[in-house]
Order: sequence, then structure tokens, then C-alpha cells
Amino acid sequence: MCGILAYTGKGNIRNIVKKGLKSLEYRGYDACGYAFAYDNNISIKKEVGKNKIESLTDSLPEYVEKNVYLLSHTRWATHGDNTEKNAHPHYDCKKNIFLVHNGIIENYNEIKNDLLASGHKFIGSTDTEAIPHILESIDYISTPEKIFEILQGSFACVFLDKKQPFKLFIFRRKSPLIVGKDKNTLFISSDMQTLSLFCNKFIEIKENIFYQLDTKNIYILPENKKIIYSFTISSFFNKKEIESEKENIFMKNEIWQQPETIKKNIPILQSLINEPASKLNKFIKKCKFPERIIIAGCGTSWHAGLIGKIYLERFSKIITQVEYASEFRYNNPVFNKNTWFFALSQSGETADTIGAMELAKLFNIPIIGIVNNPLSTIDKNSDFSFHLNVGTEIGVAATKSFTMQILILFMLSLFFAKDKKEEKKKFISAIYELPEKIKEVLNKEDELKQIVEEYFLSSSNAIFLGRGYNYPTALEGALKMKEISYIHAEGSSAAEMKHGPLALVDKNLPVVFIVGNKNDITYEKIISNMHEVKSRNGKILSIVNQREKKIDSLPSDKVLILPETIPELTPIINVVALQIISFYAGILKGCDVDKPRNLAKSVTVE
Ligand code: G6P
Repeated sequence: MCGILAYTGKGNIRNIVKKGLKSLEYRGYDACGYAFAYDNNISIKKEVGKNKIESLTDSLPEYVEKNVYLLSHTRWATHGDNTEKNAHPHYDCKKNIFLVHNGIIENYNEIKNDLLASGHKFIGSTDTEAIPHILESIDYISTPEKIFEILQGSFACVFLDKKQPFKLFIFRRKSPLIVGKDKNTLFISSDMQTLSLFCNKFIEIKENIFYQLDTKNIYILPENKKIIYSFTISSFFNKKEIESEKENIFMKNEIWQQPETIKKNIPILQSLINEPASKLNKFIKKCKFPERIIIAGCGTSWHAGLIGKIYLERFSKIITQVEYASEFRYNNPVFNKNTWFFALSQSGETADTIGAMELAKLFNIPIIGIVNNPLSTIDKNSDFSFHLNVGTEIGVAATKSFTMQILILFMLSLFFAKDKKEEKKKFISAIYELPEKIKEVLNKEDELKQIVEEYFLSSSNAIFLGRGYNYPTALEGALKMKEISYIHAEGSSAAEMKHGPLALVDKNLPVVFIVGNKNDITYEKIISNMHEVKSRNGKILSIVNQREKKIDSLPSDKVLILPETIPELTPIINVVALQIISFYAGILKGCDVDKPRNLAKSVTVE
């Protein structure tokens, strides 16, 4: 989704903007642009289309002697077509104010009509264009609060004003915006990852406050109060990974990192859970044991939540409900006293998950964040945060974050389980075996590639089926397939097949059964479901987690044998194979697997 990079001060303009905008590419964009003030002249340029950052930034000077005040933007269209007129920066009637914006102005139509009636001229059709026109019509230096009274929705804005030279102005509500400081330069970005390429001192920009920046300091308007830089970030973000310019490498790298991400986090999670003085245990002491848990998330995070529900109900005996954050927040949900709320999000910036969390906060219940990005909105606003700690995930499709979300939810369910000492021991030793088993799946790369060639390349549809723990795995397998390769894929419970999807089955439709292992309670059931598909001539690929006699009699055209593990952990093993299958389906079809069309890594608008 949209991204902002701005700075004040000295430096190689072309390099800074190129590096900054490229690091925002992963969020998804359709157009980009910049404006900068130098010696009181303002230059502006926009480019429409993907992969335009090079040509946009090549038009920038490399270096200028004096200080520069610059803002740049990647736009992911929400309101208005993907045209130059709708790309940022947007400006006012007199072309004094140049502004970039992330978020959505919900009352822009109303504002625009009022402004048109008082003579303002608009050139595009975005919600953003209303903002520079409002700024043109108010005295924002002495009454900055007016802008917050007028605008509704979410916004992170940075702007320049010819009438106020040698300054940048910034303000936000809901959408994130952070300022960082290097020796001679202040940087502003909507993305912590981008900012960490340039500096390591940061300050949080508060909501509904109007800030003015020169090259060294930040002031709050209207008092002109100088603020002090307050915190520094750790080395969470890997500069090398963020800056890499090679195509189609992020998703593959991220899939292949999973043995390591799992391995390094098992002991960390174990001590969090076991040590009486751990942060988690201290936190739990302050709260009442949960009687009910609500998990909210979107996309892949929601799928992880579905698996978490089975763990929490089965082992901890806590009623758990899993909700699409987008629906939950508008459904007048009921919260009772001992309910806990889990916000599940890789980015920590998904607008709907933040909205659901804000709603839950009103009921004064414990809010647990399970996030990858430290210092993200969800991380900062949770009462307790689990960090996925898998490093930056840049490929738009979530991979390594998903397996870690599942592992955290599994370990948490064991933590909440009051007895089951023996069972827990068995589970923990299976967890320790996971990294090696994932490696075995990765070693099947050639076989998985061949499966793609045989099963998926000639088809424009596919069905993924599973039961129990692997029903959400089937949903995730289908989601990965459609987002990466644009093959239409449907995920379903194998049992639900008879209630609709079975009508689609013919000899050409690939049907993937994620069977699991023989100790799983639904093992025999799913085999019956396979027979139902086979009797309708379905083209079946089955994925099993052990080698046993029965495999030869499976009604399957092909059986993919993956490493054996306990039923609870089969989703982690199986999804890695499904990630590789969708990766190769995308690659062999010539798709941009790191940046699928129309999608964004971090969905910061509703
Ligand atoms: C987008 C991404 C998905 C992700 C979803 C939720 O749609 O493309 O990969 O699963 O957002 O994101 P979150 O950061 O909240 O997990």
C-alpha cells in the first residue's frame, strides 16, 4: 500500500530517494512521485505504473550543496484511477503546497464540494487532493487544530509550502508516520523498515498533533515547542535484505529461512513460558486466567488463528473464537469479563486488525499482540506482545511469519493447559525436531516443481482440501496459489466438499488433499472424502505425513510423502510444501512472485 519517504537536510538526493522508495516497493504500488524544495524552488515529478522508481529517481540531481526539503511517495490506488493526476504529491490551486498522504479521507466528497463551491479547482479524483486545498484555506501555523476538526478517516501527511520555506510539515491520525535522525538529516517515513536504512534514532509522531521540521529539529505547532528524540531501535531490520534489488528472491529466501526462524525461536519461547520471572509470567499474574479468547486477524494471519483455536480449545480448554478483524469491528461483538483479545498480524499495521484491537481496548480486557514488526502500532498498543522474531518479511505473501504464528499459538496453548505433563513433554520434543523436518521438505524442491508442472500449469482452477488442523492449511494453500500464480484456487474442509465444491470436479481439476498422519482423529474420514472425489474422476494429489502401507491404496493419482510429525504440527510441515508449490507455479507462469499484481504487503487502509 502507499508509502512515504521524506527528508530535510543534506545528502545524495538521488540515492536517498531511490533507496527509500525501493524499500517501500514491497508494500505494493501503482505510481510514484516526489517534490522537493531547494533554494526556494520546488520541483515535482510523478510516474505511473509499476517498476517506475528507477526512471522517477534518475531525474533527481545527485547532490546539491545546500539543504533540501523533500517528500516522495508510492501510491496504491484506492480512490481514483491510476493516472498521473491522481498520483502524489498533490497540490493546492496556487501550487504552493505539495503534499503526500497515506490513508483514506472518509469525508473527502463533502470537503471537496465545499471547496469547489468556494472556488477551489481540483484536477484529479482522489480523496487526498482535498488536503492541500484545506491547508490553503486555513492558517495552519496558528490554528493547526482546524485540520484535525475537518478531516475524518486515517491519514499520515507530509507537505511543503512555498510560503514557508526551509521547513517540512507533518501530521497523522491512525496511519503510522515516524521521524528518524541521522547526523545532518531528518528522515520521515510511514515504514520503520525504510527508516532503518538511514538512521537509528527515532521519535514517534503522535496523533492529531501538527509538527514542523527544519533540518535539525522537530517543533510542535502552534507553540513552536521543540521535542527531544526519545528512542533507538535494535538491529531487527536487516539492511542487506531490505536493499536487495534482485527479483523474485524474497519469497524463496523467506521460505528457505524457516528451519532457522523456528530453531532460534524455540528456546526463546520456552523460557518465556517456563521461567517464573519471564515477562509473560509477570504479565499473567496481573490478569485473571482467560475464560474466552478472541483472535482477530486478516489473510494468512487469520488462517493461523484458525489453527490456534483448535490448540487453545483442545489443550487449554479455553473457548476461542477467530474473527476476520474487518467484520468483527462492525458486528457489535460481546465481550465478557474474562475475555482476552489476541491481535494476530505480521506487519502490526493492518488497519482492520488495529480497528478491532481499538474496539477491544474499550472493554478494558487484556490485549495480546502477536506481531513481527517491533514498534508497529499493534505492538505498541498491546498490553503484552509476542514477537515473531523471524526477521523482515518482504515478499507480499506471508510465509515464515505464518509458521511462527502457528508455533507461538501452539506453545501458548500448552502454557495455558493446566495438566497434561506427559503430553507436553512429547509435544516439546516434536517441536525441537521441526527444523530438521522442514529441511527435508525443502530438499523435495525438485519433486515439488515437478508436481507443479504435472498438476497446476495446465489448469486455471484448483481445490485444496483438509480436515481438522489441516483445514486451515488447505485455506492457506489455496490463498498462496491464487495470490502467487493467479490460478483460481478454492480451499475447503474436505467434509464440506459434498455441499458444493464437488460439483466442480472433473478429470481436469487438480484436487489437493492434505491428509495428515494416521494418528489424526480425522484420518479415516478424509480418506473417505478422497474416494468421493475419485469416483467423480477427480485428479487427486494427496499430501501425507508418514510412509505406511495404506498409502499404496489411497485413491490418489500422486502421493507426496512429507516427514512424519505429531498431528498438531503437520500444518507447519505441510504448508512449507504448499508455499514451494505456489512459488514454482508463479515462477513457471512468469509471475512476479514477490509483488503479486494488485496486492500489498501491509494493508493500511480498511
Ligand atoms: C496482506 C498480505 C497478506 C497478509 C495480510 C494480513 O493481505 O498480503 O500476506 O496475510 O495482509 O497482514 P498482517 O500483516 O496483518 O499479518
